[in-house]
Amino acid sequence: MYHLGLIGFPIQQSLSPWIHDKYLSIAKLTGNYKLMEIDLNESFDERMLHLKDEEIHGFNITVPYKEKIIPYLDDIDEEAKKMGAVNTVVNKNGKWIGYNTDGIGYLRSLIDAYPELLSDLSKRILIVGAGGAARGIYYALAVKGFEMIDITNRTRESAEDIAKLGEGLTATTVLSLEEAEEEIAQYDVIIQTTSVGMGSGNNQSIISLKGLKPSAIVSDIIYQPIETAFLKQAKAIGASIHYGHTMLLYQAQYAFEIWTGKRVSIGQLDDELKNVLEGR
Ligand code: ATR
Repeated sequence: MYHLGLIGFPIQQSLSPWIHDKYLSIAKLTGNYKLMEIDLNESFDERMLHLKDEEIHGFNITVPYKEKIIPYLDDIDEEAKKMGAVNTVVNKNGKWIGYNTDGIGYLRSLIDAYPELLSDLSKRILIVGAGGAARGIYYALAVKGFEMIDITNRTRESAEDIAKLGEGLTATTVLSLEEAEEEIAQYDVIIQTTSVGMGSGNNQSIISLKGLKPSAIVSDIIYQPIETAFLKQAKAIGASIHYGHTMLLYQAQYAFEIWTGKRVSIGQLDDELKNVLEGR
């Protein structure tokens, strides 16, 4: 019987219970995944001390506690340490070990959709944005061996900060948003990680994709709406697209694997989750 859950605030709209209930049933395991919302005016410390006494096998952490959880861990994996943020904890015989599944989860979702990417690591990649998600994705791609990963962001310093993670692993140029638009034809893979375009009915795109190669793959980690204006631009040019909701499924797949040792196959959950999101 697996006792799993999520801490964060606000989390009532979280898709994680839906996803992990599916994974428990696919893996033929019994268990539950509960929402443990921690209000901003509650004592985080007290809640963590209580949680340490509970029988919990593992849990996810979302905003605003991904950094605050770190002092409560007994150990932290390399990826999470580099991110400075933890979104998954496993309880191993009373010891809490922290992981960050975002970058690897994203990479799994991309490679599952486009496995041919692995046969040419010299493909040019552009990451748009330099927040927490961009950081995880950049690092996972660099560790995988992709040789050219550029970053464009409104605020140059944040992009430069992320690029430091890739020193000795990959070659990176930091571009302004205007420069990225001018250079767009150079890229084989473009990954949109900002919040621009989020929310149903939102028609904003952070940059124009005019001049994009039709052979490019364009990815957006936003999943509400499923098809952002950014992806619509890419589709109109004939490029291949990669949807944000798949990252949710794969980062949860990796978390579930950390807790149970079982890697569930995503199969038709991709379409099922799409339906859930479209029904919202
Ligand atoms: P997350 O952790 O989910 O990645 P975040 O850390 O808040 O989110 O990062 C948000 C990203 O969206 C950043 O790259 C941010 O750009 P800045 O670093 O310049 O702030 C980008 N972003 C958000 N709103 C934007 C806007 N209106 N125009 C351009 N970039 C925007």
